[in-house]
Amino acid sequence: MRKKENNHGIFSAGQKTLWRALRPSIWTLKSDPSHENPALSILRTLHDQPRWLEPYHLYDERGSQLFEQICELPEYYLTRTEDSILTEKAAEIIAAAPVECIVELGAGTSKKTMHLLREQVRLRKGGTFAPIDVSLRSLLASRDTVKRRFRQLTFHGLCSRYEEGISSVDTSLPTLFVFLGSTVGNFNRSEFTRFFLHLSRSMGPKDFLLLGTDRVKEVEILEKAYNDSQGVTADFILNVFVSINRLTKGNFDLKKMRYHSWYNPEWQQIEMYAISTATQEIHFPSYKTFFVWEKDDRILVEISRKFEPLRLQRQLQLFGLNPVGHFTDANEWFSLLLFRKSVS
Ligand code: TRP
Repeated sequence: MRKKENNHGIFSAGQKTLWRALRPSIWTLKSDPSHENPALSILRTLHDQPRWLEPYHLYDERGSQLFEQICELPEYYLTRTEDSILTEKAAEIIAAAPVECIVELGAGTSKKTMHLLREQVRLRKGGTFAPIDVSLRSLLASRDTVKRRFRQLTFHGLCSRYEEGISSVDTSLPTLFVFLGSTVGNFNRSEFTRFFLHLSRSMGPKDFLLLGTDRVKEVEILEKAYNDSQGVTADFILNVFVSINRLTKGNFDLKKMRYHSWYNPEWQQIEMYAISTATQEIHFPSYKTFFVWEKDDRILVEISRKFEPLRLQRQLQLFGLNPVGHFTDANEWFSLLLFRKSVS
């Protein structure tokens, strides 16, 4: 008989019973701690000024596919550049972070992380890899690759949002948290603070963080990366309204809007908007609410912040994260920053 799989070795003692196996080596929370109803959160941010949306609605099935296409675009240098830094520097990064466990946040299929796993196996002969992602499909792909390529590693996929995954992992295990792709740049200012407070509190004294961040650079390069010639980014951003119509039974019409993005130098961020091309009424009959979307009025769908590494290091130090390494490419377009949780 096959031994029943257990989740010992990844979750802290108090958390073990909160998770159940969803698939072999993949865990999910038994009950989801009442997250706000997504439809209501959408309607509320749409009534804000400026109107805006939370980024996680972008990643429905089609959104995730479009995002994978973005990563391959000639103008979108981020994925390629980060991957090249990891190819070159993974050995150095792993040597600097003596850990038993690697936890990846918002992992996707963990393609870029394989460089780190390779070095972890080479240097330490084994350990645990625990990606956290809301997409089961990505976790399954990651699991299959890791099991095939790195038999020495124990795999635990956590199918959840970052926060729940982060609070559940065993902090007595020296852990490297990995957060790549400049996803941190998609947080707004309050989400940014909330995220680092929570992460830092959940980290033990032997834990590290590897953070992938896109850097401030020439405006033209930045703007092209988010407005590609094939229009894939535009499709990705506007697709959120298909997803919203499905969730809220709203009547957004993709033919009556256009995509617009620009780099806001003061806020050091790309801002991605949907702009109404005609005055129209957007109705949500199931929620008895509506708004008039005026011609030329904008909805802020996504931001992508750009960072100055030194400044970010100083800022994260105030969350108890001490800079211990900085890895970049020859153009200095992208930075991987390594932090160690300070023992206070
Ligand atoms: N975090 C990456 C970035 O900021 C990927 C990303 C998130 C993205 N949302 C996006 C890329 C919207 C293009 C458009 O670039």
